[in-house]
Amino acid sequence: MSDKITLNIEGKTVDCPVITGTEGDKAIDIGKLRAATGYITMDPGFGNTGSCKSAITYLDGDKGILRYRGIPIEHLAEKSSFTETAYLLIYGKLPDRKEMDAFSSSFNEHSMIHEDMKNFFDAYPSSAHPMAILSAMVCSMSAYYPDMIKENPTKEDIDRIAVQLLSKVRTICAFSYKKSIGEPFVYPRHDLMYVPNFLNMMFASPTRPYKLVEEAVQALKVLLILHADHEQNCSTSTVRLVGSSHANLYASISAGICALWGPLHGGANQAVIEMLEEIHADGGDVQKYVAKAKDKTSGFRLMGFGHRVYKNFDPRAKIIKQKADELLNKLGIHDPLLDIAKRLEEAALKDEYFIARKLYPNVDFYSGIILKAIGIPLKMFPVMFAIGRMPGWIAHWKEMIEDPTTKIGRPFQIYIGSPSRDYVPIEQRG
Ligand code: CMC
Repeated sequence: MSDKITLNIEGKTVDCPVITGTEGDKAIDIGKLRAATGYITMDPGFGNTGSCKSAITYLDGDKGILRYRGIPIEHLAEKSSFTETAYLLIYGKLPDRKEMDAFSSSFNEHSMIHEDMKNFFDAYPSSAHPMAILSAMVCSMSAYYPDMIKENPTKEDIDRIAVQLLSKVRTICAFSYKKSIGEPFVYPRHDLMYVPNFLNMMFASPTRPYKLVEEAVQALKVLLILHADHEQNCSTSTVRLVGSSHANLYASISAGICALWGPLHGGANQAVIEMLEEIHADGGDVQKYVAKAKDKTSGFRLMGFGHRVYKNFDPRAKIIKQKADELLNKLGIHDPLLDIAKRLEEAALKDEYFIARKLYPNVDFYSGIILKAIGIPLKMFPVMFAIGRMPGWIAHWKEMIEDPTTKIGRPFQIYIGSPSRDYVPIEQRG
């Protein structure tokens, strides 16, 4: 097998090394193409472009495989905890008991936010989207912990910011929810694990203790694990791109949160429930919405359907659908939206339009049903995705910044604007 591909363009040749990954994936390194031939490659939306080598997550979209550091997500969802999965993603190995205990206890140490930052919550209108609050608060952490944002952070600095972000983000999210409903903040507790601690901060109040429901804790844990990383998606690529300028970790992750917010990415879980509610209110005719999604003039897409990489099934969606069923059964909830979701999936999967384009339910299609059953308000759905994705963003930023071959991200373009022309003073313009 050749270790290089020779391109010949207008009589100029360039040897492009072939890069092969652990699982046999192949890339052509076109790094010398422009210098040798004057050509760049064009790939809007990066549908066929690799931006880095990474040892964090492996994804095979045709086979429906997703592994973190080599371990299938099915195993992690069943056997691991969110904090252990976070450790695995960030440090590349499963922690031993001592490492796990130290990692968990540092979550407690960093769970509070700076008292002055609490004033921020008063400045936001109660209608503020929690993603706006989250991205602003995460970026603001760089102002409150300035000693952590050195030009060349040490390994210890990065470790500290990582655990700080993982822990504090949960507090920020719960506080922003409390603020939106006008209830006092509930502080994090040292005796609770990551997920129960979050649920307690969300749903306990001074007059009403929150009774933890084990099924809800388990379902949320699985959801967070399944969202923890997804290699070079839009928000993670944003984190890497922003971080490639050596912007600090808080700023880079704040940018990632903004990228995640969009309805084509992490905002899709909110959009799915809004769509299912609309179908429900409109009489539940799923065929009507399948037809609308096929009509290119409608501007409507089936939210929670389709994926850039998965062309067979999304392994996360498979687990989440099962968890949604289990949770609703255990809680004795009958949610008509789950029925609509199942009927919609069935109708779409039989439809030639969806079959031809290999459009399947993605991670967001059933996750909203779980979040709704737990009592998480709709606007917080993308925030839950952000809490889940935090370990992945940190792992990618760390991998990027620790790699001495990383360059600042700076793509090219083909200019299609006006050719050179003279400036005309305003008095002389017609
Ligand atoms: N409903 C109807 N048609 C669709 C849909 C959909 N959900 N998704 C893709 N298509 C069509 C699209 O119109 C195009 O058709 P044609 O070839 O005739 O022009 C074809 O399928 C390919 O679509 P694309 O937009 O070129 O595909 P993409 O890889 O650029 O986009 C996507 C992927 C996820 C943005 C897109 O499928 C989509 O908009 N889905 C709905 C939003 C959604 O659920 N997003 C969450 C993604 S999973 C969570 C995450 O990791 O972000």
